[in-house]
Amino acid sequence: MRHRRVASSLLIALILPFMCGTLSSQAAPASSSLLAATPVMGWNSWNKFGCNVSEKLIREIADVMVSSGMQSVGYQYVNIDDCWQVSRQADGTIVADADRFPGGIKTLADYVHGKGLKLGIYTDAGRMTCQKRPGSYEHELQDAKTYASWGVDYVKVDWCFAEGLDPEVQYAKFRDALAQAGRPIVFSICNWGVKAPWQWGPKTGNLWRTTGDITDNYDRMSVIGFSQNGLEKFAGPGHWNDPDMLEVGNGGMSRDEYRTHMALWAILAAPLLAGNDLRTMTAETKELLTNSEVIAVDQDAKGVQGHRVWEEGPLEIWIKPLADGSQAVGLFNRGESPLTMRLDAKLIAVSPASKLRDLLDHKDLGPIHESYSTEVPTRGVVLLRVSK
Ligand code: GAL
Repeated sequence: MRHRRVASSLLIALILPFMCGTLSSQAAPASSSLLAATPVMGWNSWNKFGCNVSEKLIREIADVMVSSGMQSVGYQYVNIDDCWQVSRQADGTIVADADRFPGGIKTLADYVHGKGLKLGIYTDAGRMTCQKRPGSYEHELQDAKTYASWGVDYVKVDWCFAEGLDPEVQYAKFRDALAQAGRPIVFSICNWGVKAPWQWGPKTGNLWRTTGDITDNYDRMSVIGFSQNGLEKFAGPGHWNDPDMLEVGNGGMSRDEYRTHMALWAILAAPLLAGNDLRTMTAETKELLTNSEVIAVDQDAKGVQGHRVWEEGPLEIWIKPLADGSQAVGLFNRGESPLTMRLDAKLIAVSPASKLRDLLDHKDLGPIHESYSTEVPTRGVVLLRVSK
């Protein structure tokens, strides 16, 4: 029932009962029963809290994800990153930090599910996590079964302490372990682009990191985001390139820089995992994270990752074709002063009668005529939707 037209091969049926997202792009039409049919949306603890995770934090984040309106625009996963785990029992079962998670992960999952949300967890394909907690190497099946028994819906698998291991092999082991665990679990491959995961990721997981870590500054965010050009052919429903989690609201970027971050991630059909403290976010941060017109670009059912169609110095135009025949168009100014940008109707192959809408500011701009010109702020963006 979680499947679409699953290949008839018994082998695949046995190995991949829950890993619909692992099929190739040609074989993976969007469907509501497909895991990660559109890029995952949610929150992750790492960017803001690092190792300072607890049951209390996760409950409060789940609460505010609902009360802030984030859930109603599509945010769904509440993901615990590194440091929730401390040791293994004698039989190898992974043990959560009892001081920080006194009720255990299962109780926490029940709480999160009670809010209509889903719970994510973190491990490492190597011998230890990046913060030196037990890794899942040689415990893949045991850990996958433990997560399933707790009601976990998402697992991010990191790549620290994996010397001498082949990511393609190790992540396939994890995929097979999850398939045997008896629960649909989104599989997030986090090996920072090592061994070009976009090449084997589509048959292995639902998303794969393409680069090293993001940090909360414009240079790092923009280098990562704009370097995704060319990877669009590997993404599609059930399997996505992951340029890392959002930094929106963490304080290291200006309003225009965060607008660029959000608009670029939407054009890229990137996972939208907020990484800020939702409990204390400003109205400006909330408005950007919950901009439903921008989110609609990211979550568009066609599932096509956008790409760059034009560049000149610090100026770039990116497009993302959408299911209704319209296109999302990002006019990006990577420069250090405001610049006028001109979008030629011929560049995006639309008729002069096609209508423009500004998605960040929710404004209709009328027909494009031959071209549309606008000033784009320093390190900023104008994100348009151009009707057919
Ligand atoms: C990194 C990973 C980060 C975060 C961190 C935790 O390898 O890329 O997103 O999970 O480990 O230690």
